[in-house]
Amino acid sequence: MNYLNSLEIIRPDDWHTHLREGDLLKCVINSYSRVIGKCIVMPNLKNPINKSSLGKEYKKEILSLINNKYFKPFLPCYLTDDIDSIDFENALKNEIFIGAKLYPINSTTNSSYGVSNIENIYPSLESLVKFNKPLLIHGEKISEDISIFDREKYFIDDQLIKIINDFPNLKIVLEHVSSEYGANFVAQTNNIYGTITPHHMILTKKDVFKENINAHHYCMPVVKEESDLVALRNYACSGNEKFFIGTDSAPHDLKQKENTNEIMPGIFSAPCSIELYTEIFDQENSLNNLEKFTSINGAKFYNLEVNKDKIKLLREKWKINQYTEYNNIKVKNFYGGNILNWRIEN
Ligand code: DOR
Ligand code: ZN
Repeated sequence: MNYLNSLEIIRPDDWHTHLREGDLLKCVINSYSRVIGKCIVMPNLKNPINKSSLGKEYKKEILSLINNKYFKPFLPCYLTDDIDSIDFENALKNEIFIGAKLYPINSTTNSSYGVSNIENIYPSLESLVKFNKPLLIHGEKISEDISIFDREKYFIDDQLIKIINDFPNLKIVLEHVSSEYGANFVAQTNNIYGTITPHHMILTKKDVFKENINAHHYCMPVVKEESDLVALRNYACSGNEKFFIGTDSAPHDLKQKENTNEIMPGIFSAPCSIELYTEIFDQENSLNNLEKFTSINGAKFYNLEVNKDKIKLLREKWKINQYTEYNNIKVKNFYGGNILNWRIEN
């Protein structure tokens, strides 16, 4: 592609975000709604969103803070062991839930209500197939004898393949694909799609695990080897319909990140996520495929219309702020203090 100084693309979506609730939601919401059109808001609040009444309330809380026409949140139901199937099916039918999210128990933030045995959620998976709605998966197998770097591979081999065999018609998104193994699996397997974050295409484990762990680069699944990063870049930039945007932008207050023994996993990239993807696609000489990844492939997968308006990206340097703040909340911005070469025209 010729050297470009500006680029117009259909307004991007974000098929995997964390907006949180209360003051933290108020703190971060503008970083998302400044540019994102449709987004899937993950349901891992302290009280998981596992029934329709909670989903409706949460959506209302989010929408009360939005003052534009293009930002549209969608919620998946957090699958717990005690899903009320009638409520769940009604919520799918009435589009309160866009699908459902599987968190293996204790795999990440607020996942203690997650699934301990996959067969416990089989009735919910049947409902998903019945209404042709997708299952979104945090694909990590947690076990003392599995290294933190191998959790994705073991999940695929031991659990995902079983789900696929038992529910061949179920549409599945393997969220935040983090390994070459996982990305190859998505590319080669029917009915499986994948989201890719910016941070898994920028960081490797050396950026996280130094003498001290770098809390601001610590996320689940953890970032891995250079070879994994390269594979993810290749798939994202290829235009392959099976891969689409999902930032997994996951804000935590500094109190959960610094001077604590219990570092919460999560990287808050919303203040510059679209700009980072643009930079990555530019580095890979693939700006011609950016729009498919950010604005088309995901909408197709979810059977939703692509956004009607466009955004303009300019090749202009700008510096990302270090923090996003509100009241007594302070969140570290991913890439804060660094210079980016692409910015969004206001
Ligand atoms: O790093 C992560 N943070 N990974 C997840 O899966 C959840 C997220 C969060 O909610 O903080
Ligand atoms: Zn997430």
